[in-house]
Amino acid sequence: MKKTVLVSGGAGFIGSHVTVELIGAGYEVVVADNLSNCDMTCFEGVKKITGRDDIPFEKVDFCDAAATEALFAKYKIDAVIHFAAFKAVGESVEKPVLYYKNNLGSFLNVLEAAERQGGCNVLFSSSATVYGQPEKLPVTEESPRQPATSPYGATKQMCEDILQDTVKASGGKIKGILLRYFNPIGAHPSALIGELPRGVPNNLVPFITQTAIGKRACLSIFGDDYPTPDGTCLRDYIDIVDLAKAHVYAVTRMMEGKMDEPCEIFNVGTGRPVSVMELVTAFERVNGLKLNYKIAPRRPGDVTAVWADPTRANTVLGWKAERTVEETLRSAWEWEKHLAGK
Ligand code: UD1
Repeated sequence: MKKTVLVSGGAGFIGSHVTVELIGAGYEVVVADNLSNCDMTCFEGVKKITGRDDIPFEKVDFCDAAATEALFAKYKIDAVIHFAAFKAVGESVEKPVLYYKNNLGSFLNVLEAAERQGGCNVLFSSSATVYGQPEKLPVTEESPRQPATSPYGATKQMCEDILQDTVKASGGKIKGILLRYFNPIGAHPSALIGELPRGVPNNLVPFITQTAIGKRACLSIFGDDYPTPDGTCLRDYIDIVDLAKAHVYAVTRMMEGKMDEPCEIFNVGTGRPVSVMELVTAFERVNGLKLNYKIAPRRPGDVTAVWADPTRANTVLGWKAERTVEETLRSAWEWEKHLAGK
């Protein structure tokens, strides 16, 4: 019997790529999303890529406890991957109540439903934001978490703690994995799914591709006076398909009962720091175009540098980032052109 994975927020950027990889690995997937920050574009793309027209889609708001409960009752859920959350750092500072209510409320409902069905494997999508500006680089999973600098970051830390406590109290019925993502970028090689930001993108790569296609006039590089080799910030940009594959390894590890501890943590990154300027230059080079950009003041809240030590994911999960940053930037551009109908 095939095992069933519920993907909350499964119509979004990361969720759609994860759905493709899960189906490729032989899992049944239930995609659930309230479509608050995406439309059906990526879900339609997932169906095309997988050749599966019968993937169940449920329009569910996980803040609705009864609807969440009903979803667990309708399907036999062996594992849930929880993506359904708001993710704009700046907006979270302006609307903290909205962020705490949505990001904590939805996760609590998922955990309550998991408890009520007698147990489940739960994978939570966390972020390198929990490390803040680390004292030592690269960061391992043992690196201390820093106080959150935004309500968004605080919700990631709180959900990590909530899952740890829930696993501990469940007497083995609930198992958990926290995946801490670094900077997911790029798109599926088919160019049928990718990042689809609403309004002005906050993140670097969608801003780059939208500038290249002419939707934005000019990219602002936020600060060139950081204490880094070229003065711009350093990040660990991880290809979205590579990142999606890490979920398959993690879910399988939980399903097969191979965990060393009931709640495990893995960094999902490449281990390779890349500066904003290097990324912009690589984008221009691999796609053979010139990008209109300017140096702008630093963006409040940005950290100077953060990148992963992915050793634990490499050795324990058996997962490794494979695509080069060049291939990833090519895929991001192909997706932007696909959206523009070019
Ligand atoms: C941010 C969040 C992180 C969150 C992630 C996903 C912070 C400190 N981190 O990561 O918690 O999980 O988004 O939403 O807010 N940049 C420019 N010009 C732009 C956009 C970005 O120069 O128009 C620079 C930034 O200053 C940064 C780098 O590009 O140095 C990456 O930025 P971004 O893509 O927004 O990701 P993070 O800030 O690393």
